[in-house]
Amino acid sequence: MREEFILTGQVLSFDASPFEADAPTDAARLSDAVLVRDGKVVELGSRADLQALAPEAPVRDHGQDLVLAGFVDAHVHFPQTAMIASWGKRLIDWLGSYTFPEEMKFGDRAYADEIAGRYLDLTLAHGTTTVCSFCTIHPESVDAFFTAAQARGQRVVAGKTCMDRNAPEGLRDTAQTAYDQSAALIDRWHGVERLEYAVTPRFSPTSTPEQLEAMGALWRAHPSCLMQTHLSEQTDEIEWVKSLFPTARDYLDTYEMFGLLGARGVYGHAIHLEERERHRLREFGAALVHCPTSNTFIGSGLFDMAGLMAEGQRIGLATDTGGGSSFSMLRTMAAAYEIGQLRGRPLHAAELLWLATQGSAQALRMEDKIGNIAPGMEADIVVLDLASTPAIAQRSAGAQNLWEATFATIMMGDDRAISQVYVSGHPRQEGR
Ligand code: GUN
Ligand code: ZN
Repeated sequence: MREEFILTGQVLSFDASPFEADAPTDAARLSDAVLVRDGKVVELGSRADLQALAPEAPVRDHGQDLVLAGFVDAHVHFPQTAMIASWGKRLIDWLGSYTFPEEMKFGDRAYADEIAGRYLDLTLAHGTTTVCSFCTIHPESVDAFFTAAQARGQRVVAGKTCMDRNAPEGLRDTAQTAYDQSAALIDRWHGVERLEYAVTPRFSPTSTPEQLEAMGALWRAHPSCLMQTHLSEQTDEIEWVKSLFPTARDYLDTYEMFGLLGARGVYGHAIHLEERERHRLREFGAALVHCPTSNTFIGSGLFDMAGLMAEGQRIGLATDTGGGSSFSMLRTMAAAYEIGQLRGRPLHAAELLWLATQGSAQALRMEDKIGNIAPGMEADIVVLDLASTPAIAQRSAGAQNLWEATFATIMMGDDRAISQVYVSGHPRQEGR
């Protein structure tokens, strides 16, 4: 039986990138309704037009709520769910003091299942329908995450985090076991329903050249996988990388020389980039992921959104849970706005919403499936209440237009602003 419905509200979609339009709002389109059939978007239009197309379809009326593609969080660590908001350290000490001890627990499949389920429920409650996640060194953590995502029908990307040095006993594999375990996980999960595998060396300091070589070989053997890692997050991290790889031209080169630079590469943070690195990332069409709450929380630096966009880089947006201080892509957009202000280029609400949906989908090379509401796209949709608290309601009541109203929710909203989420056309909260 065909499952179809018409969803009404202020439906926001994008015809182009607001970063490339004359005015950011020129790239956006507002419609009254969207027709969803069998988990896919069929058509946008007026309610009457869509009812003519599908006279039997029930209507789900979302009033004046903003309806847009579900948020896509392009760089997260689901195993860091329970240690988010850990105080007072910078990257390398933060990893050693908080992150590694927590990640040690994921050899226990029951614990991995518990956190994977809690993490995905938390992010769905915040309107995020797709994430690209690091797991831990343990294959069990990958099985737990994909199992939980599959149960929820979600499109996700994940991979076993590989480390064979500069990590404690119990969190290290080897070049060979990293290859073999990752290859087995690819066979088990990659391309199953909506699940995709990412080859995942954590970052250069925790992999020997032999392990990076093995990761490069694995990626070459499975070119439809993404490859995710970290790049140039903190200045002392960069100095450390240069001392560990004395022949490398720069941080990116520690990946490039082992075949770990490519169009399906997704590089988290990418704050302190050198000219050659920017040039090569652009040349390969690799993706950079801006993690603004993490970059302020761990004290990493201010991502150059305007400069990188102007040179045509592919850029996504992410929470970086739990280096990031929130599960919310609304809070993440607010932090991106604030960093833009500190760099002299405030981002428009249309740009922020585009980054959190289509921008991140492009970073994950999924822009033809998710990240926008358009015919043929999968119906992953979030519905935002633009008056979810008294303070936001007051501000949006005084707004001159939809963008002003939406900006108040971006800056002050949280999970209370999420009035509904659809995953492949299935509503998460019944009765709405
Ligand atoms: N660099 C290497 N590992 C990590 C991590 O878990 N979080 C962040 N923010 N940076 C990293
Ligand atoms: Zn990260």
